[in-house]
Amino acid sequence: MKDVRDNARELMKGYCRVCPVCNGKACVGEVPGMGGLGTASSFKANLEALEKVRFNMRTVHDVSEPDTSTEALGFKLDIPVLAAPIGGVSFNMGGKITEEEYISSKLKGCLSQGIAGCTGDGVPEFIHESAFKAVSEVEGTAIPFIKPWESEEFDDKISKALDAGAKAIGMDIDAAGLITLKKMGRPVTPKGKERLAEIIKDIPVPFVLKGIMTADEAVLAAEAGAAGIVVSNHGGRVLDHCPGTAEVLPEISRAVNGKCSVIVDGGIRTGSDVLKMLALGADAVMIGRPFSIATVGGLQEGVEKYIGQLRAELKQVMVLTGTANLKNIDPNILRFK
Ligand SMILES: Cc1cc2nc3c(=O)[nH]c(=O)nc-3n(C[C@H](O)[C@H](O)[C@H](O)COP(=O)(O)O)c2cc1C
Repeated sequence: MKDVRDNARELMKGYCRVCPVCNGKACVGEVPGMGGLGTASSFKANLEALEKVRFNMRTVHDVSEPDTSTEALGFKLDIPVLAAPIGGVSFNMGGKITEEEYISSKLKGCLSQGIAGCTGDGVPEFIHESAFKAVSEVEGTAIPFIKPWESEEFDDKISKALDAGAKAIGMDIDAAGLITLKKMGRPVTPKGKERLAEIIKDIPVPFVLKGIMTADEAVLAAEAGAAGIVVSNHGGRVLDHCPGTAEVLPEISRAVNGKCSVIVDGGIRTGSDVLKMLALGADAVMIGRPFSIATVGGLQEGVEKYIGQLRAELKQVMVLTGTANLKNIDPNILRFK
């Protein structure tokens, strides 16, 4: 991974410093770019919330070959990780590789390592066009996320995602806060439960609502028919001063109580972070920026290496917490500061 990261640091110059820990401190306010909005407190809160969670180390047991696999949203996952939707290589990452190369390498790397990647959306056509092409290249083993457009742009993109063979589709409803889109004449809006239910009933594959930060809205999403939610503050890019996702995850997971899958993202960097989030109530996680760095720095191979690293780390923490599999993780493996 060192070569991949060194290469990414060179290629992403001026956009991402590829810091030892990707925590939002060096890139405050860099949106566009890879940073967090405003003071970046929401980005930083994600890492801080995870830091407050520690493990009770346990070694008097028989777990030496833990099972890292799981199933979520109809996908069989070798590790409980999805690559989060991130697009806009030219204006967020420095543009040294093309959007097509980026998203195709990311999705192929995920597929070859037994997980799935997601694709993003935005105003420029090339983002979703490259995304849907890549989704069809991996025969639909990916989740395209569409923004909550007000106009027919939404329906149009959903039908293109389905044509590409996507086995699940999502909406990053928290992008409703992106006033930049409105300024570009392409408004996005929040959607009430009834509107969501109308949208979801016409979509023949599992639908995922991304950007849920409260227990009551998680329940509304499940009642509207979402197959899953992503507990997310968009990596701190839409609203400053949000809590970290690890902080709100337990109450959300309790409220959802199995009515839909609970995915979480924000600040997850290592296999330890992945296990923490699962023990806090998630069914699987998404990881954002580190996947973009791995992709820019090493294309498909960079993505494969990063997934390999996550798998090795996850196995190790599972052994050292006595966690045999991901089905019924004992919450007592965690300890809180
Ligand atoms: C440069 C950039 C672009 C993003 N674009 C999208 C997008 O198009 N759609 C989306 O749902 N989320 C988008 N996100 C949010 C990520 O999917 C994810 O929620 C976030 O990056 C997770 O936090 P992490 O990077 O700390 O892991 C973007 C994030 C970044 C940094």
